[in-house]
Amino acid sequence: MPISTKPLTASDFVVEVAGVDLSEPQDAETIAELRTALGKHSVLVFREQSLTSEQQIEFTRHFGDLEIHLVRQYLMPEHPEIIVLSNVGADGVKPTANGGAYWHSDISYRAKPPLGSLLYGIEVPPEGGNTLFADMYGAYDTLPDDVKRKVEGRKAVHSYLERFKAMRSIDRSHKGEDKFELDEEQKKSFAPVLHPIVRTHPESGRKALFVNDGFTIGIDGMGDDEGKALLRDLNVHATREPLVYSHAWRPGDVVFWDNRSTMHCATSYDPAYTRTMHRTTIQGDTPY
Ligand SMILES: [Fe+2]
Repeated sequence: MPISTKPLTASDFVVEVAGVDLSEPQDAETIAELRTALGKHSVLVFREQSLTSEQQIEFTRHFGDLEIHLVRQYLMPEHPEIIVLSNVGADGVKPTANGGAYWHSDISYRAKPPLGSLLYGIEVPPEGGNTLFADMYGAYDTLPDDVKRKVEGRKAVHSYLERFKAMRSIDRSHKGEDKFELDEEQKKSFAPVLHPIVRTHPESGRKALFVNDGFTIGIDGMGDDEGKALLRDLNVHATREPLVYSHAWRPGDVVFWDNRSTMHCATSYDPAYTRTMHRTTIQGDTPY
């Protein structure tokens, strides 16, 4: 069945997709159309979905192998492909605070960061808790020429350890009796990696800025102060209002974003409201 898309942003960086029930088996034509739409638009929004964990995993698998997150304390025990993000604890997983409240591209600190992620809003607050998305194609396209020259061919350093330490201080699952530490194997997997600051999207062929506030800690071959200052400037540039979409969640929303051409950021909400979401994550390639 052909899909139809409706832009949610002036640049059609985000589109709402109609005509797909994600709980049903999909034919090859629909998957090909969705794959093309993702490379073109970067964020796909599906409304009024109702998915079991098995169905979410099955749909996500059409786009590649699934990533099993290294912070396994948040994984659903019987379906480790699903990260449970819930402020009340759900599905056998400890509650988590609003952990992604900083601009980031998921798991960019690995040698092969994910292609994309699907986030399914099961129970969401009536207000607040929006997810912001930044258009990193747009961020690259609008960089001043001198900055483009400065970053072309350069690599940035991505690492999770600093963020993990910062997160631990805000997340109640990291405190008291619930406190957990990374084990040696996890620490080793979080060794810093280098990625090009400007990457080429393997499907669309477009260039996108690929640094983020959450995990990018320096620039290879640049002094610490200079590198951090440039990263700050790039982040400010990429998150200016015309490049940002704010997704107000409704229960049953599924948002499928391309992790290679976007950053995202959680926003706050009244913790008296329950918020439970399931994320599946698709493995990606080495950025070039
Ligand atoms: Fe995230």
